[in-house]
Amino acid sequence: MKVALASDHGGIHIREVIRELLEELGIEYQDFGCDCETSVDYPDYAMPVAEKVANGEFDRGILICGTGIGMSISANKVKGIRCALVHDVFSAKMTRLHNNSNMLAMGERVIGAGLASEIAKTWLLTEFEGGRHQNRIEKINKYEEIEASSGSEKGE
Ligand code: RB5
Repeated sequence: MKVALASDHGGIHIREVIRELLEELGIEYQDFGCDCETSVDYPDYAMPVAEKVANGEFDRGILICGTGIGMSISANKVKGIRCALVHDVFSAKMTRLHNNSNMLAMGERVIGAGLASEIAKTWLLTEFEGGRHQNRIEKINKYEEIEASSGSEKGE
């Protein structure tokens, strides 16, 4: 599994903890920043990382900002992305089992590093259940296809 990781200035400490977790689990990853503590714009990190997951360059993506909200909203604009904003271990497990989420967003100003690490570990190690949940995901995929084709009809 290859994981793409990024944060804005509001998520750099938890990003570091996630890096340590990925090393510990022996999971290949690439860190896409940000590099500094000055203020940056979360869409500049969320969308490029989401595109790398959507095009198959990476299997999963993890994004951290202050609340996780901006990152998750941005990532979910990219076709094929199911980014789950998660702040508890139960949801981390369920979003893999039922939603086959391919991206995880968390907020450093919402939870502590220990919980973030547990959430990420659970999310990384839980497999999708498939079955009836696959049909539901296909409905989302179908909606995205229709949206994309109606956009191209309008010349967008
Ligand atoms: C940055 O101040 C903050 O708005 C950002 O990290 C995030 O919480 C946005 O959703």
